[in-house]
Amino acid sequence: MAGNWKMYKTQAETRAFFSAFLPLVSDATNCDIVVAPPFTSIAAAVEAAKGSNVAISAQNNHWQRDGAYTGEISVGMLAEAGCRYVIVGHSERRQYSNETDDIVAQKSRAVLSAGLTPIVCLGESFTERETNRTEEVLAQQFIGGPGALTGEEFSRILLAYEPVWAIGTGRTATPEIAAAAHRFLRRCVQDQFSAEASASVRILYGGSVKPDNIQGLMAQPELDGALVGGASLDPKSFVTIVKAA
Ligand code: PGA
Repeated sequence: MAGNWKMYKTQAETRAFFSAFLPLVSDATNCDIVVAPPFTSIAAAVEAAKGSNVAISAQNNHWQRDGAYTGEISVGMLAEAGCRYVIVGHSERRQYSNETDDIVAQKSRAVLSAGLTPIVCLGESFTERETNRTEEVLAQQFIGGPGALTGEEFSRILLAYEPVWAIGTGRTATPEIAAAAHRFLRRCVQDQFSAEASASVRILYGGSVKPDNIQGLMAQPELDGALVGGASLDPKSFVTIVKAA
């Protein structure tokens, strides 16, 4: 269960979140819990979560180890800061920062090279779904992105199916729509890698996951967890979501 804070929470707000959140999830041992603060709050989050069952993620990384890339952050820096995961290829980065499938593959390789776990996002837009192109788009994003990794690399990543029309809109995919997309992605994994890879890869669902819809989503055996935006900002609502795992 992963929370993506996007461009929210200062360091002080991060400390306040963890003070409230950690005691409420200390007994949640049935799932991995991940929180992805913005870069400037990562150190505060790592410090606050030290010794707990919550791991810290970054929301983005550069694909090079280092170099003249003003404003960018490398995976080595994230690893040193204490991150264990990085969200790669979020639709907001694809949309606003022109991230392509190839960049998603390169960033994922960089994350793996630092020993961290990429959470690789993919998902169709509203128009793509309305015009029956969902599977075509998912297959294309898969093949050019996580599908371009080696089998060994792929065995160390997480996938997140995030239909763009459901992100931040309050329009969650129905559990059935989410499950069908997850099944399709598992077929892509099987075609590209193996039946074993398809069975073992963990696929999170993301897009307006809330305390009142998480149980229906998690009742689908195809869903292995959730990537939560807005509802992960409030400790109580994120706790309710984590406990539904
Ligand atoms: P949301 O965001 O839960 O606010 O829809 C999900 C995400 O973008 O990961």
